Amino acid sequence: MKIYLPLDSAAVALGADEIAAAIHAARPDVTLIRNGSRGMVWLEPLVEVDTPAGRMAFGPMTLEDVPALFGDLAKHPKALGLTEDLPWMKAQTRLTFARVGVIDPLSLADYRAHGGLKGLERALGMSQADMVAEVTNSGLRGRGGAGFPTGIKWKTVSEAKADRKYIVCNADEGDSATFADRMLMEGDPFTLIEGMVIAGLACGATKGFVYLRSEYPIAIAVMQKAVEIARAEGLLGAKVLGKGPAFDMEIRVGAGAYVCGEETSLLNSLEGKRGIVRAKPPLPALQGFMGRPTVVNNVISLASVPVIFEKGADHYKNFGLGRSRGTIPLQIAGNVKYGGLYEIAFGLTLGEIVDKIGGGTASGRPVKAVQVGGPLGAYFPRSLFDTPFGYEEFAGKDGLIGHAGLTIFDDSADMLEMARFAMEFCAIESCGKCTPCRIGAVRGVETINRIKRGDAAAMPILTDLCNTMKSGSLCALGGFTPYPVMSAVTHFPDDFQTQKEAAE
Ligand SMILES: Cc1cc2nc3c(=O)[nH]c(=O)nc-3n(C[C@H](O)[C@H](O)[C@H](O)COP(=O)(O)O)c2cc1C
Ligand code: SF4
Repeated sequence: MKIYLPLDSAAVALGADEIAAAIHAARPDVTLIRNGSRGMVWLEPLVEVDTPAGRMAFGPMTLEDVPALFGDLAKHPKALGLTEDLPWMKAQTRLTFARVGVIDPLSLADYRAHGGLKGLERALGMSQADMVAEVTNSGLRGRGGAGFPTGIKWKTVSEAKADRKYIVCNADEGDSATFADRMLMEGDPFTLIEGMVIAGLACGATKGFVYLRSEYPIAIAVMQKAVEIARAEGLLGAKVLGKGPAFDMEIRVGAGAYVCGEETSLLNSLEGKRGIVRAKPPLPALQGFMGRPTVVNNVISLASVPVIFEKGADHYKNFGLGRSRGTIPLQIAGNVKYGGLYEIAFGLTLGEIVDKIGGGTASGRPVKAVQVGGPLGAYFPRSLFDTPFGYEEFAGKDGLIGHAGLTIFDDSADMLEMARFAMEFCAIESCGKCTPCRIGAVRGVETINRIKRGDAAAMPILTDLCNTMKSGSLCALGGFTPYPVMSAVTHFPDDFQTQKEAAE
C-alpha cells in the first residue's frame, strides 16, 4: 500500500507529522511518501492513497481517521474521491506546479519520470543567445512583484563581460498571504534547481545562491538535501549532466527582514553586510553580487523556466492575457472559505477568484475588501471585482498584483486601521536609507491617528505625505506603501468619515 502525506509546512502545522507517525505505527509495511501540498490548505493534512483507479484523497485528516484508511476506502468518513477529479484541481492549469504534490520531492528518479530535466536537456543543445531568446519569447515576467521581463534581465547579464557571474534566487517571500515559493521549494525543489542551472547556462554564470528566509525551516532542509542529491547525480558540478559547463549552487539563510527581499538589500545581506537598499544604477544585472553581473529572480520566475524549455516558449505564451503571459500561482488567504494555491492562466477577474475559487469569506459575512500583492498592494472593493488578473490591468486601477497573494477581509474590517497598519509596517520595516520612507512612515502613523481622533485637517496632509513617499522614496517599500493607504481612503471613505463624525 502506498500513501502520500505532505511534508509541507501548512500540512505539518495542521498535524501531518502526527498522522504520519500514526500510519507507521498502525501499518509499518505501508510505503509513506511525504509529498508537497496539492494547495488545498483547508483540506490539510490531506492523505492520498494510491489505488488502481488513481490517487484517492482524504482530508482534513485527524488521528481518529487513520485506522479507517486500512478498511473500505469508499466508506472512509473523510473520503473526497480521486484527487485529480476534485473541482479545485480540475479547473487549474498547472505548468510551474505540475509536479508539486504529485512526486516525491527528493527523488530525482520520480522527478525525471514526470518530465523533469527535459527542459535542461533541450537547453544544453542551444546557444546562450537562443536560450535567452526562448525566455524572452515566452513572455515570462518576474513573479517576485515588479513584473520585469525575465528575458531582458537575462540578456543584460548574458552579454555583460566579467570573470564571474551569478544567479541569485530570491526566496525571501516576505509578502503577506504568499506561500507559492515555499510550496514549490518544499514540493518540487529540483524544478527550481533546474531553472537555476538553465539560467546559469544562458547567462554564462557558474554559481547560484538561493536566499531563503529563516522562517522556512522545512523548505531550507528540503532545498539543502535536493542540492546534495543534484550534486551527487551530476546535475550540479563541474559538467552539468556530464555535458554542459560548470554550475553549482548554495542555500543561504537570511535572518529575516522584509526589506531583504528587495534585490539590492538582499545582495548586501548575501555579502554579509547590513540589509540596506543600494541606489540603482548600477543595476544588479551589471554590478550585483560581489560587484559582478547577477541575475536576481524570484523562485517562481526561475521555476517556470524548465516548463518553458520543455514545452517551448509558444506553449507558455499562449496562456494569459495582454502582456501578462503564461500562468500565475494565486495564493488565496485571509478570511476565506477555501484558501490555498491555485495556478491558472492570467485573466480571471478578481471576483471570480474571490467568490468562485475562494468561496467567499470563512466567516460567512460579505467580502468588504481584498488586498492584492502583499503589504504594499492596494485594497480592492467589490466595485472593482471585474478587474482581470494581469499586471497592466491592476496597475490601471492603482493597484498591483505583486507576488499574487490575495488577503480577503469581511465587512467587519476597519479600513482606517488597515491604512494605519500599512504605515506602521513601513515604519517598522524601513531600512532607513531615505527620508520619505524612514520619517514619512512614522509621520503617516501619526497623521492617521489624528484622522481617527476626528481631525479633518489631517486628511489633505495624508494625501500630500503619500505623494511625497510615492515620488521620493528610493525603493518600493516607501514608494508603494501609499497604495494600501490611499486605496483605503479612496474606496472606503466611510471608514474615515465615521471616525470623524464620531468625534464631532
Ligand atoms: C521591500 C521589497 C521586498 C521585496 N520582497 C521580495 C521577495 O520577498 N521576493 C521576491 O522575489 N521579490 C521581492 N521583491 C522584489 C525584488 O526586489 C526583485 O524585483 C525580484 O527579486 C526580481 O525577481 P523577478 O524579476 O523574478 O521578480 C521585493 C521588493 C521590495 C521593494
Ligand atoms: S524606501 Fe524605505 S526601505 Fe526603501 S531605501 Fe528608502 S528607507 Fe530603505
